Amino acid sequence: MKKENSHYPPQFIENFSSEIQVASPGRINLIGEHTDYNQGFVLPTAIDRKIYFELRKNQTLNTCRVYSRTFQKHVEFSLSNLAPGKSSWSNYILGVIDEIQKRGKKLEGFDCIINSELPIGAGISSSAALECGLAAGLNALFELGLQDMDLVKLSQDAENNFVGSNCGIMDQYASVMSRKDHLILLDCQNLHAEFIPADFKNCKILLLNTNVAHNLADGEYNTRRQECEEAVRIIQLTYPQVISLRDVNLSMLEEFKEELSPKIYQRSRYVLEENERVLKATQAIKRGDLNEFGKLMYQSHEGLQNHYEVSCRELDYLVDHSRSKDFIYGSRMMGGGFGGCTINIIEVDRIDAYVKEVSTSYKEMFHIDLDAIIVVPSEGTVVSNERGSQ
Ligand code: GLA
Repeated sequence: MKKENSHYPPQFIENFSSEIQVASPGRINLIGEHTDYNQGFVLPTAIDRKIYFELRKNQTLNTCRVYSRTFQKHVEFSLSNLAPGKSSWSNYILGVIDEIQKRGKKLEGFDCIINSELPIGAGISSSAALECGLAAGLNALFELGLQDMDLVKLSQDAENNFVGSNCGIMDQYASVMSRKDHLILLDCQNLHAEFIPADFKNCKILLLNTNVAHNLADGEYNTRRQECEEAVRIIQLTYPQVISLRDVNLSMLEEFKEELSPKIYQRSRYVLEENERVLKATQAIKRGDLNEFGKLMYQSHEGLQNHYEVSCRELDYLVDHSRSKDFIYGSRMMGGGFGGCTINIIEVDRIDAYVKEVSTSYKEMFHIDLDAIIVVPSEGTVVSNERGSQ
């Protein structure tokens, strides 16, 4: 039986003394959007905004109690009955537990308190932080012996199988594996990762949260994925060795221009070009060329806006607004799209004035408050076991 309660703090949180603490970060992605599920390249990293977990065993066989202080929500359930429910936040939790149990690992009753610094729907992957943090905490609490890569994969599976979002591996990988002050050039075909120093010179990474999350996000995300798979299916008829868009190059794609619908051709072309941009951007940051890096970010946005069609008016407005500012090197929408944040590389001493100015024009245009968040590339999930109480 699963009980949900949204109005008052449950009793178990009084004098809570935890055995395990976890800090699980959100992520940014500098470039390489909608490429992960096409086995392409991405350039993400974790950020210094996190979800915090405190866990303890509760000496029962099956009863689990989880309380979110941030959202003042409480869920209680049995390990032997994990059906997905209406509330989406508890589905992430149940999904992780289900995937752990599917791997033959033995859990017992536990209590958990969650505090979050991550805005929801902002495209900084609060969902991966929730999944990976809980997975890491339970792994430590019950000494399950899962490796970091197991935590990444089971968290992604939880989202695919339980929540129903057919996401790729980027968010969970970044949330767990990131290193402080580095970006990850991740090849999603073989999961080879290169850690690149995140040296943005006199610039910082500024996120501008549109504070819109259009409803179509989930459905359209899965549709984009299907469109790419459809392209692969058609190309495979001639080239059976092609397993994903990663195995297709631009000249091969041209051969199929007539056979693919214009939309599917356009989606595929975007993916191929975005992969190229990730590799070029990595070279640019390695040699400290922020101009080139920023140009590639703008090109990425144009592809996402016009060819992959996952942007929205609010995101386009913010990116356009930055174009004429020579102290902003690059700007683009980030994450799945249809709302959430833009990511901007901006000179440090211009941030305050710019945020003021862009917030005013954004408000005039859309009657929505803009949120500005400066983020720092940070380490992935951290687990500790200092006995703590609150
Ligand atoms: C979401 C998904 C990721 C990735 C991005 C788009 O964040 O969870 O797997 O596909 O969208 O790049």
